[in-house]
Amino acid sequence: MTKVLLNESFVEEQEAKVAFNDRGYNFGDGIYEYVRIYNHKLFTAKEHFERLLRSASEIGLELNHTVESLTSLVRELAQVNDVSNGGVYIQVTRGVAPRDHAFPTPEVTPVLTGFVKAYDRPYQKLEEGVFAVTTEDIRWLRCDIKSLNLLGNVLAKEYAAKYNAEEAIQHRGDTVTEGASSNVYAVKDDVVYTHPANNYILNGITRRVIQWVCEDENIEFKEEAFSVDFLKNADEVIISSTSAEVMPIVKIDGEDVADGKVGDITRRLQAGFEKYIQSHSE
Ligand code: PDD
Repeated sequence: MTKVLLNESFVEEQEAKVAFNDRGYNFGDGIYEYVRIYNHKLFTAKEHFERLLRSASEIGLELNHTVESLTSLVRELAQVNDVSNGGVYIQVTRGVAPRDHAFPTPEVTPVLTGFVKAYDRPYQKLEEGVFAVTTEDIRWLRCDIKSLNLLGNVLAKEYAAKYNAEEAIQHRGDTVTEGASSNVYAVKDDVVYTHPANNYILNGITRRVIQWVCEDENIEFKEEAFSVDFLKNADEVIISSTSAEVMPIVKIDGEDVADGKVGDITRRLQAGFEKYIQSHSE
């Protein structure tokens, strides 16, 4: 039986109820995180929960938790469900109140929910690469906040699904921002380019690990915006996320990226990423 997290309790999924007037439901008024579990251990939990606390603070949501308390709740959730490989979603909404856009007064207590999902690493895709399509980025201007309000991302991902692609790479005008649920990299002449971590993208934790690997490996990492044309003419293209890890893109909008094979820099980043799985899981 699956147990989920509801505030500070672990309850059977069938018995877990959230309120009709939860602001998460009415407004998407909340934030979330997704943490990977490798071999019973949480990967980069500190970075994820620091980001959760930042997201909360950016939307004026006062969360009565610390990195440590969130880590121990999520660790216990994985343990009670006996999940050795997979991931944990943790979501926080502003709470329950009659429908009114402005924050409730007096303040209400945030509602915290979480669930764990077991799955294996995507070895075949990591080896062979996957396809992507490009689409206009229609999201709001605070994509740095990991908000529950994901309609733009949902529509982009649905567009990818329609074309049997793994990911939709979004662009604002001509500038590539990020994937529907991933960060995007173009490799040209052995330099790894990615959009700067500003309000147009989520500052991915996997992106940070890739940056660490580039430092270790003496690979130049440039936080510099690039065009759709640059992306399509890159030597290698990669997306990264907690679930996709360091994922090669071998086709964009039906055209091969370079020779359509996974490149050397991608392989070095994947190998470096493996070392961080070992050193940053607890
Ligand atoms: N998504 N950009 C967006 C829009 C994302 O939704 C994600 C992650 C990322 C990569 O961030 P990270 O490396 O910290 O996972 C970038 C998660 C996996 C999700 O929503 O399920």
